[in-house]
Order: sequence, then structure tokens, then C-alpha cells
Amino acid sequence: MEIKTIGIIGAGRMGSGIAQVMAASGFDVILMDVKDEIIQKGVENIKKGLAKALEKGKITPEEKEKIRARIRTTTELEDMAKVDFIIEAVPEIAELKLDIFKRLDKICPKNIILSTNTSSIPISKIASATKRRDKVIGMHFMNPAPVMELVEVIRGINTSDETFETVKNLTEKIGKIPVESKDSPGFIVNRVLMPMINEAVFALMEGVASAEDIDKAMTLGANLPMGPLSLADLIGLDTVLSIMESIYRKTGDPKHRPCPLLKRYIDSGQLGKKTGRGFYKYGL
Ligand SMILES: NC(=O)c1ccc[n+]([C@@H]2O[C@H](COP(=O)([O-])OP(=O)(O)OC[C@H]3O[C@@H](n4cnc5c(N)ncnc54)[C@H](O)[C@@H]3O)[C@@H](O)[C@H]2O)c1
Repeated sequence: MEIKTIGIIGAGRMGSGIAQVMAASGFDVILMDVKDEIIQKGVENIKKGLAKALEKGKITPEEKEKIRARIRTTTELEDMAKVDFIIEAVPEIAELKLDIFKRLDKICPKNIILSTNTSSIPISKIASATKRRDKVIGMHFMNPAPVMELVEVIRGINTSDETFETVKNLTEKIGKIPVESKDSPGFIVNRVLMPMINEAVFALMEGVASAEDIDKAMTLGANLPMGPLSLADLIGLDTVLSIMESIYRKTGDPKHRPCPLLKRYIDSGQLGKKTGRGFYKYGL
């Protein structure tokens, strides 16, 4: 079946970015969220993203208008009855995602693939809310979706080869690079990246070096584009903690114990760039 219209659930940071990517690749998009005000914020985000693309000469003013016009919005989940493919990007709350998948399973035609952008909830668990477990799959975009090239494609226990191939092809069609991951805590990127950030915070707590020197050492010595503590500030320390806690809980492996200093920063309201202060200070 040809995919023409993509339904995206959640117009937040990821959902709006993914909507932009899909529309820029020629797909019609129906972007759904719970309130009009929230959708407007998501649309503003898309407009900013398109303005940047225009500024950089990646699109023409006409293309910008065409892309914008391909995105329709709704507050009704029932409108997903009209789409050919679903990407769910609501907050990382298991009960919420399970409820949405249960409802989507009733609303969407039986042949439609339901994908999720979850970072940590097992795909098999989300699939269990539906009667089409073979058509549920993880399509994990990185943040910001319009910029980052990788999409992790995650199969649940029952995901069919056909579903996997469809998502792999779709990923390539939108100019991204798919990498297959098992349905394992943190998939690939977070499994490797978050423990590195956590270890950098342990090094800071133990007084091994200053934040600046830890970042300098890792950028110059490991050839990273950004130090782990600066990256943690960008991601948000609360997000880093919740991902570490999730990996720790699911693996039960003490090597994934979140660093107490990370918790202290969060307790003091220093969540990183978004609050103006994390390991570094930012002018807001
Ligand atoms: N932010 C990141 O860096 C990142 C990266 C990769 C994956 N993810 C994953 O993407 C998903 C979304 O994350 P985000 O950062 O965009 O969150 P967000 O909070 O920015 O956006 C979530 C949106 O979902 C909406 N929502 C809540 N309940 C809803 C419902 N019942 N129906 C429709 N919409 C509803 C919210 O109003 C909000 O606009 C999560 O699963 C997260 O783990 C996030």
C-alpha cells in the first residue's frame, strides 16, 4: 500500500519536528494534539524550522509554503481513520501510550502500521495494547528531528518483516538513515550515550576535573563535537536522569546507577539550558 498521508500524535518538540520532516518529503500530514493552543505552538515551531531552512537556502519560498500547506491539524484522534501511517509522539508515559494505541487500533484501518517514537518503553508492551502486534514498531527520531539523520527502527517481538521493511524504506525516503535495534533498554544511542554522560557527572562529583576540563578533554581527546556535560545541559538534566533511571530499572545492572550529583542539580531546579543553568550558566 502506498503511504500518502501520515498521522502524527503529539505536536510537541518531537511531533512537530517529525511533521516538518514528513511534509518536506512530500507527505500530507495530520498533526494531532489535545488542545488548539498546543497545536499552535507546534505549528510555530514548524514555521521557525522552515524559516531556518529557507535562510540556509535548503528550500525556496514557494517550497516553504507548499510544505506548510501539507500539514493539517486536529484535536480529534478519530481523524486518524483517514491516514496511511501513524507516528505517535506523546509524552513518555506508558499508560498514556497504551491507551492511545488501544484507541488507534480501533480507529485506524487494520492494514495501517502504528509506529511509536518512544525512547524507553518496550515496543512489545505498546503492541500488546493492540490486535495488530505485527504492525507495531519503534521509529525513534533524534532531537531535533529535522536536523538529525539517524532513525532507530525497533522491532517488537511480533513485528513482521513487512512492517520493518516498510518503515526502513520510509526512513530512507525522508532522507534519514535507519539503524535496526533490538527492543532493549535505551536501544543503541541512549544505551551508549547516557552512561557516558552519567560517568562524566560522577567524574565531576569525585573532583576528577572541572566541568570545563571534562568537556574539553572529551571534545579534544575523544573527538566528540560537544562535551558530555554541555550535551547534558542541552538535553535537560531531568531527561538524562529519567533515561538513566529507566535503563537502570530495566537492566538491574548497578553500572547504570544514576549519579547522585545529577539528582542534586535537578532538586535545585538547575535542569540545564532550558532553565538558564545546569553544569553551566546560560543567558536567557
Ligand atoms: N525530546 C527528545 O529529545 C526526544 C528524542 C527522541 C524521542 N523522544 C520521545 O518522543 C516522545 C515525545 O517527546 P517530546 O519531547 O516531543 O514531548 P513533548 O512534551 O514536547 O510533546 C508531547 C506532546 O504530546 C501531547 N499529548 C499529551 N497527551 C496527548 C494525547 N492524549 N493525545 C495527543 N497528544 C497528546 C502534549 O500536549 C505534547 O504537545 C516521547 O516518547 C519521548 O520519549 C523525545
